[in-house]
Amino acid sequence: MPIYHRLGQVPRKRHTAFRQPDGSLYPEELVGNKGFVGPSSLLYHLHQPTHVKSVRRVRDLSWEADPDRQFRHRHFRTHQLASGGSITLDRVPMLFNGDVAMLFVQPEREDDFFYRNAQGDEIVYVSDGAGVLETQLGDLPFGPGDYLVVPRGIVHRYRITTTPMRCLVIESTGYVRTPRRYRNEHGQLLESAPYSERDIRRPESLETVDERGDFRILVKKENRVHEVVVEWHPFDTVGWDGYYYPWAFNIHDFEPRVGRVHLPPPTHQTFEGDGFVVCSFCPRPYDFDPEAIPAPYNHSNVMSDEVIYYASSEFMSRKGIEYGSITLHPDGVPHGPHPGRTEASIGAKRTDELAVMLDTHRPLHVSKQALMIEDGDYYRSWIEAEQPR
Ligand SMILES: [Fe+2]
Repeated sequence: MPIYHRLGQVPRKRHTAFRQPDGSLYPEELVGNKGFVGPSSLLYHLHQPTHVKSVRRVRDLSWEADPDRQFRHRHFRTHQLASGGSITLDRVPMLFNGDVAMLFVQPEREDDFFYRNAQGDEIVYVSDGAGVLETQLGDLPFGPGDYLVVPRGIVHRYRITTTPMRCLVIESTGYVRTPRRYRNEHGQLLESAPYSERDIRRPESLETVDERGDFRILVKKENRVHEVVVEWHPFDTVGWDGYYYPWAFNIHDFEPRVGRVHLPPPTHQTFEGDGFVVCSFCPRPYDFDPEAIPAPYNHSNVMSDEVIYYASSEFMSRKGIEYGSITLHPDGVPHGPHPGRTEASIGAKRTDELAVMLDTHRPLHVSKQALMIEDGDYYRSWIEAEQPR
């Protein structure tokens, strides 16, 4: 996230002697994206972060696709997934391609290890629950409706204070950022953007832990989890500065746009990645022309697979969905409002819908786990709803 931030103590100049009270140096570490040319931060530790005591492979995290590659509109009910497990390691894959994956997790306990994703950036949408994301760059308290953006490589763990917890996780091969069209040539969010830097929460407290022992960091790399045991507590940072850190943005801080007639989904774009976008559909007044049709028009989403996570049971154009539903409308067959929803939307004043949309440029695979919670008749729901009663 391109806002400069600083916490704790850092030396006046980079890469100069920065000494502890006993005269030893604070070890410096660059954590960044794309080696030395992407966004990065400089960390100052109490101890060397390189003291690895052991490494072992723990488990495989490969995602298996539906071998039939069935082609139709899909609907998955995440409330049918079993809850429990780890917020980092027991995420259930739903949909994925080479650019991005959507997973779901309902953890019931905190991890007794640290986690580092070394293969992807993460957007964790907290649908229910609250806690604190503890990181080597400071703490980020979170609650319902928060998007937590965790760039790859940052060591972290979740403290859970309110349950049940339900999280939608979007894991990205590329760097997750604010949409380019929302920023001016200097990187600042435009006055016309639907949110501003003031809405972005950054780590504000840094607790430095000085402990020696066996600290387990589980590292995700190439779809495998490796346990790396280090000698020093990974949260021994005394200070850092830079542009690379976890941040939070609450979906209710997205300022929805409304027009005289219907505005298309890109109006609601919230994040941008390589090969996908994420949009937020938030409570808002409807279009204000008396003849306006607030429900979306039918559309063929050519060169895009559309996924919606329903973060409440309200959604203006759908019947039969529920809180926690995920729909996939793949490229190749048009979709639109369910019968009756278009007419019913005319004259309506507002919607309370809340949803997170993921649109991908390349086709998505459906996971084997998603098949187990699929509403298999969904693709016929447009005509079934029109049958005489
Ligand atoms: Fe759509």
